[in-house]
Amino acid sequence: GAPVEVNISKIEPGQLIRVEWRGKPVWVVRRTKEVLDVLPSLDDQLRDPNSEEPQQPEYAQNPTRAINPEYFIAVGLCTHLGCSPTYLPDSFGEQVEGVASGFFCPCHGSKFDMAGRVFSGVPAPLNLVIPPHQYLDDSTVLIG
Ligand code: FES
Repeated sequence: GAPVEVNISKIEPGQLIRVEWRGKPVWVVRRTKEVLDVLPSLDDQLRDPNSEEPQQPEYAQNPTRAINPEYFIAVGLCTHLGCSPTYLPDSFGEQVEGVASGFFCPCHGSKFDMAGRVFSGVPAPLNLVIPPHQYLDDSTVLIG
């Protein structure tokens, strides 16, 4: 599959856009400062908070799982059996108390935070996969 170029300049804060890469959905989510500030407080509720399992490129193995923290880029498939998790920008609190936003898999109830990190006690074994990518300039990302 060819790499896919994505223009990220029009994504609003909180918005998720989908692109297709190698037949898979890839998400680009623009994270607000509020969302980024919450991430460290979730670590003790997560299965692999530091993303030690090797499901991302090295340059995304950091607390925000991103090259540029403002943009979260991930393969939009649940790591359990591959359903497509739902992005809940403002109703995630029903899934995890005190957390405003995240991703919820309707198939068997797996929950992921805004860095795609899986919560403990759900079927998904791994954090969401970060695809290989690079920034060509401030507004263009090449996925693949
Ligand atoms: Fe997502 Fe099973 S496929 S929880």
